[in-house]
Amino acid sequence: MNAKKARNVVVVGTQWGDEGKGKLVDWLTESAQGVVRFQGGHNAGHTLVINGVKTALHLIPSGIMRPGVKCFIGNGVVLAVGKLFEEIEGLEKAGVSVRDRLRVSEACPLILPFHQALDVAREAAREQGGVQKIGTTGKGIGPAYEDKIARRALRVQDLKYPERFATKLRELLKLHNHILVHVLGSRSFDFGPALQPYVKDGEVQFDAVYNEAMRHAELLKPMIADVSRELNDLHAAGGNLLFEGAQGTLLDVDHGTYPYVTSSNCVAGNAAAGAGVGPGMLHYVLGITKAYCTRVGSGPFPTELEWQKEGTPGWIMSTVGAEKGVTTGRFRRCGWFDAALLKRSAQINGLSGLCITKLDVLDGIEELQLCVGYELDGEKIDILPLGADEIERCKPIYETIPGWTESTVGVTDYAKLPANARRYLDRIQEVTGVPIAMVSTSPDRAHTILLHNPYSAD
Ligand code: GDP
Ligand code: IMO
Ligand code: MG
Repeated sequence: MNAKKARNVVVVGTQWGDEGKGKLVDWLTESAQGVVRFQGGHNAGHTLVINGVKTALHLIPSGIMRPGVKCFIGNGVVLAVGKLFEEIEGLEKAGVSVRDRLRVSEACPLILPFHQALDVAREAAREQGGVQKIGTTGKGIGPAYEDKIARRALRVQDLKYPERFATKLRELLKLHNHILVHVLGSRSFDFGPALQPYVKDGEVQFDAVYNEAMRHAELLKPMIADVSRELNDLHAAGGNLLFEGAQGTLLDVDHGTYPYVTSSNCVAGNAAAGAGVGPGMLHYVLGITKAYCTRVGSGPFPTELEWQKEGTPGWIMSTVGAEKGVTTGRFRRCGWFDAALLKRSAQINGLSGLCITKLDVLDGIEELQLCVGYELDGEKIDILPLGADEIERCKPIYETIPGWTESTVGVTDYAKLPANARRYLDRIQEVTGVPIAMVSTSPDRAHTILLHNPYSAD
C-alpha cells in the first residue's frame, strides 16, 4: 500500500435519506480498507442484500459485511451503546465478526434514555399544541446533539471514569427532568415499554441510567479508540477509506428543509469534521440519488404524489419500491424526480458523480415527469430555495419523458438499458451538471452498473 495512491470516497444521500447508501457503501467497500460513519446515529437504516440475504444496519458501517475491512464510528456520531450491542449481537449470530474490526471514537456523545424521553415527549407536545410534528424517528437524536452543542454531553470517554460520569449525569438529569416534568408534563405521559424501566413519576431515574451505562462501559471499552489517528494512519499506510453518510442532504440541519430536518450536518464537508481527518483527504464525493424521490416524516416535498391510489405512479413507487422505513416501519411519501433539488444538493456537497438507484422501480410507468425548476411567488427559479416556508410555496415545473416497458431489474450493463431509460438518465445529468458514475437496478449487491469507479484516479 502507498499513501500517495490511497484514495478516499465520501458517500452521501442527495435527497431526504433512504436513497440506497447502504447498498452502495457495501459495493464500494470491495475497494476500501476502512469504512467510517461520521454523523447521525441509529436514526439511520441502511439495507444490504448479498446473495439474496438481507441485513439492516443502523449504527455499524455498511462495510462490515466485507471480511477484513476495518469499521469506524467517528466523533460526529451520537451513540446509543445498547443499540450498538443489539446490532453487534445480530451480526455475530449471522456469523459476521464485528468486535475485532470495529473502533468507536471516544469523543462520540452518548444517547441516553432521557434523550429519547425528551424526543418523544416533545413530538407529542407539538402535536397537542397544534404545531406540525417534525416526524422524528423518536430515537433521541435531536436532544443528544443539543447536549453536545451546549457542551454538557456525556461522551464515550466519560464511560471510563465512573465518578466523573456520575457527577455529569446528576447535573444533566436535574436539567432534563425539570424540562420533562414542568415543561412537557411527563407525569401524565405514557412513555411506552422501552422507556418504562427508566422513568418513575415522569422523571428519568439516576440509578437505572447509571447502572446500565456502567455495564455498557465494560462491553465497549475494548473498542474505544482514537479514531482520527487510526484513520490517518490507515491512509498514510496506503489504505483507501470510505466515509458513509447517513440521512440525506435535504435533512441537513443547515441546508435542509429546516426545521423539518435531522440535527446533524449530513453534507459531504462534514465527513472531515465528523471523522477527524482533513478535507484534503476527501477525494471523491458520490451522491446517492433515487430515480424518484421519497421522504419520511413531515416537511415540504414539491414533487410529492398520491401514493395510496392503486395503479398510479406514486403507488408504483411505493409498492414496487417497497418504500417502508427500516428504522420506524413508517411508509415513505413518494414523488417525481426533482432535478432542481438535486442541483442544490450537487452544489452543497460538491458532488463528483451520481449513483442513480432504484431505476427498476420505474419500469412500466408510461410517462415520467422530471422537475426542472419551480414557480415561486410568480417567478421561475431553477434551483431549490432554502428553508421549509419557501419550499412549501414552490410549484414544480415538469418536463415529460416517455417511460419504458422492458424490465431493468438486474441489468449490469449500461448499453442494455432501454433507450428511454438512458434518455431519462441523460436528462438528469444534463440538468444537474453531474456525471452519472453508477446505476443500481435491484437491491442486490451484484446488480449494479459501473460507468466510472470512484476509487479510480482518472
Ligand atoms: P439508505 O438509508 O440510503 O441506506 O437506504 P435504505 O436501505 O433505507 O433504503 C433503500 C431501499 O431500497 C432498501 O430496501 C434497499 O434494499 C433498496 N434498494 C437499493 N437499491 C435498489 C435498487 O436499485 N432497486 C431496488 N428495487 N431496490 C433497491
Ligand atoms: P438513512 O440514513 C430517512 C428523518 C425523520 C424525520 C427527520 C428528523 O436511513 O437515510 P430524527 O430522528 O433524525 O431527529 O428525525 O429526519 N430521518 C430520516 N429519513 N432516512 C434516514 O436515515 C433518516 N434519519 C432521520 O424521519 O423526518
Ligand atoms: Mg435508510
